[in-house]
Amino acid sequence: MKEKKKYLEGTGKILRESMKEKVKYKVVILGKEFVVYPNVFSPKYFKDTEFFAKCLPIKKGDEFLEIGCGTGIISVFASAKGASTITAIDINPAAIKNTKENIRLHNIKNNFKVLKGDIFKPLKDHKFTVIFWNTPFGFTTKNNLTVLEKAVFDENYKSTRDFIKQAWKYLKKNGRLVIGFSSTLGHLTELRKILIENGYTIKILKQTLSKEAYNVKFELIEARLK
Ligand SMILES: C[S@@+](CC[C@H](N)C(=O)[O-])C[C@H]1O[C@@H](n2cnc3c(N)ncnc32)[C@H](O)[C@@H]1O
Repeated sequence: MKEKKKYLEGTGKILRESMKEKVKYKVVILGKEFVVYPNVFSPKYFKDTEFFAKCLPIKKGDEFLEIGCGTGIISVFASAKGASTITAIDINPAAIKNTKENIRLHNIKNNFKVLKGDIFKPLKDHKFTVIFWNTPFGFTTKNNLTVLEKAVFDENYKSTRDFIKQAWKYLKKNGRLVIGFSSTLGHLTELRKILIENGYTIKILKQTLSKEAYNVKFELIEARLK
């Protein structure tokens, strides 16, 4: 698989721009105000967070797990849409603090856990009805990525593959994976292949065209075990 060079250079440029922020700042997403910490994937610079927050298919009572919560904005929307429990995980320690602050800001009292770690590692035997990840869909062969680069790049799609391989253990019967992706920046054919190899059927729930460094397509994908 080749890196989508031109597009990923654009992503790298936006990421470097976002790194100039040295103190926490506010953003408004779908009419709600949130705090963004430096060194956390920022919806001020990247447009996919808002799209996925808007389209996230949550039913009242869903038990929601978000891998890679970043600022926690999508988990806060999952709560607003009626999820009964929320678990949010990220490898980035700044994202954990950031998510906790946004939960406080929105005065969320329901069952909300925020855990630091690699994909499912912080979990024991919990199971969920919906597992969501706005994945780092930029395919790269580069190693030694910084923690912030890991928000947008995945070395040889290792984390994406591990996520899909292990997810079945954490899904309730009839539960589903919901994946945030970009067919412009990432390899949708490879993602499909990994999902199919692991026994999932796939549906594209929503797609949009958004302006980042270039015009970029984003997809919200639902995957269910056959
Ligand atoms: C594209 S960002 C999405 C952030 C946030 N959900 C949003 O949509 O604004 C991907 C997130 O995944 C996290 N991440 C990357 N690799 C991870 C891993 N192996 N385990 C847990 N989180 C990871 C990153 O730190 C980053 O916060």
